Parts: sequence; structure tokens; C-alpha cells
Amino acid sequence: MFLSSENLTRSFCMGEQTIVAVDHINLEVEAGEYIAFMGPSGAGKSTLLYLLGGLDRPSQGKICVAGKEITKLSERELARYRNQNVAFIFQDFNLQDHLNVLENIVLPLKFREVAKREREKIAMSLIERLGLSQRLRHKPSELSGGERQRVAVARALCGSPQLLLADEPTGNLDSKTGAEIVSLLSDLNKNGITILVVTHNHSVAQTAQKIYTIQDGKIVHCQLLSAASGGKA
Ligand SMILES: Nc1ncnc2c1ncn2[C@@H]1O[C@H](COP(=O)(O)OP(=O)(O)O)[C@@H](O)[C@H]1O
Ligand SMILES: [Mg+2]
Repeated sequence: MFLSSENLTRSFCMGEQTIVAVDHINLEVEAGEYIAFMGPSGAGKSTLLYLLGGLDRPSQGKICVAGKEITKLSERELARYRNQNVAFIFQDFNLQDHLNVLENIVLPLKFREVAKREREKIAMSLIERLGLSQRLRHKPSELSGGERQRVAVARALCGSPQLLLADEPTGNLDSKTGAEIVSLLSDLNKNGITILVVTHNHSVAQTAQKIYTIQDGKIVHCQLLSAASGGKA
């Protein structure tokens, strides 16, 4: 088992009220799986993704990734885990506005203290693969939405993550550009990266192998899709 959670729970105290955003979720993900999470707004999808990626800590329960219980790690170890194993893609791209395309993409490698020449070499091959060669020195504000998301994908891939977590990656894109990002995710998954994607978009979800429906912090339904449908959306 590549990733598992046991009784994973995250609650938020809001004054008198406690909101249970993620409610005793047990999840098992095999290496190389591609899973979509759907469900209404406020269901706990983002919170679940942040917990699994080590961006947030559970109130209860545990998470194991690649044989390691990440819920036991110190802050420092957790940051290292994220940097070395996990990549995030967000709806609003989350790029650094003051940095250009190349500088944004190499950031994870900079944190890893990879030498400048080496990180630019890795970045350049991704830049070519994602069709960003003409945009190297542009700032995010000078790019289209699709280009920004491709920069975010390149940055995500720069560190050769085992796990890619995407939170509504096509939410801010028109349908054609969204479809490009989706087929990119499919290709990455075919190359072995485990992907968990949160989406409202059924055609995005259809490219996954399984769709979990989340409601009120719980997984209420699992739909298996045939692998053959991957990439057709
Ligand atoms: N940092 C936070 N503080 C308080 N409540 C939060 C926080 N993050 C999420 N929530 C609450 O947890 C619930 C689940 O949120 P979220 O995971 O963002 O849902 P989704 O991504 O499915 O729309 C919501 O009720 C939301 O208001
Ligand atoms: Mg969300």
C-alpha cells in the first residue's frame, strides 16, 4: 500500500461550534493509482488533500505514505517529506508573482539545494515538454490561465514527486485549456505518478480510475472506472 489513512479526522473549533471537516476517513491508495474526489462544496475535500500532503495536521487518526507514518513527523521532517515526495497543484495556480517562469519552476529544487546548473537543466526539459519555451522570462501576470497552470505543473514535476495532489486544477480554466491539463495529468499517471485530484468537473473525474464521493467529511461512495476510459474526456 502506497498511501493509507486510518480514522483520519480534522475538526476546526469555531467559537462554541466544532466543524468536523474530515470525519474518520479510511483510505487506501496503491502506488500508481489515479483517484478523483468529488462532492459538494464544504464537504472536506480540500482539507483531506492538505492532510494527505502534509500541509495540515489531523485532529485524530494517522496517515502512512511509502511505509512512513507522516502524522508522527516533526515540522521539520514533514517539510522535508513534502519537498521530496509531494507536489500540489491548486485552482489559483499559486505561483510567485515576482518570479519569472523559470524561477517559479526551479523553486522546489532550490529548497532541495540542487545546484543551479542542474536545476535549470531539469527545468528546461520540463519547460520544453510543457510548451513554455517562449515564456521563460515572463512573469505569471503576463501569461494566460492555461500557461500559468502549465507552469504550476512543471514546478510540481520538477522535484520528481511520487504523489501529485491537485485541488480543482481546472477550476479557473476554460474547457479547452482544462482538457489540456487533464490529459497532462493522465500522461503523468501513465508514467507512474500517483494522483489524487479534487474536482467538480465530471469529465475530469472520468479520466481517473476511481471516483470517491465525499459528503460531510466522509467517503460515501466509490465508483470504479475502467482504465480504458483514461484520457478520453
Ligand atoms: N482553516 C479552517 N478553519 C475553519 N474551518 C475550516 C477551515 N478549513 C476548512 N474549514 C471548514 O471545513 C469544511 C470543509 O472545507 P473544505 O475542505 O474546504 O471543503 P471542500 O474543499 O470540499 O469545499 C467547511 O465547512 C469549511 O468551512
Ligand atoms: Mg475545496
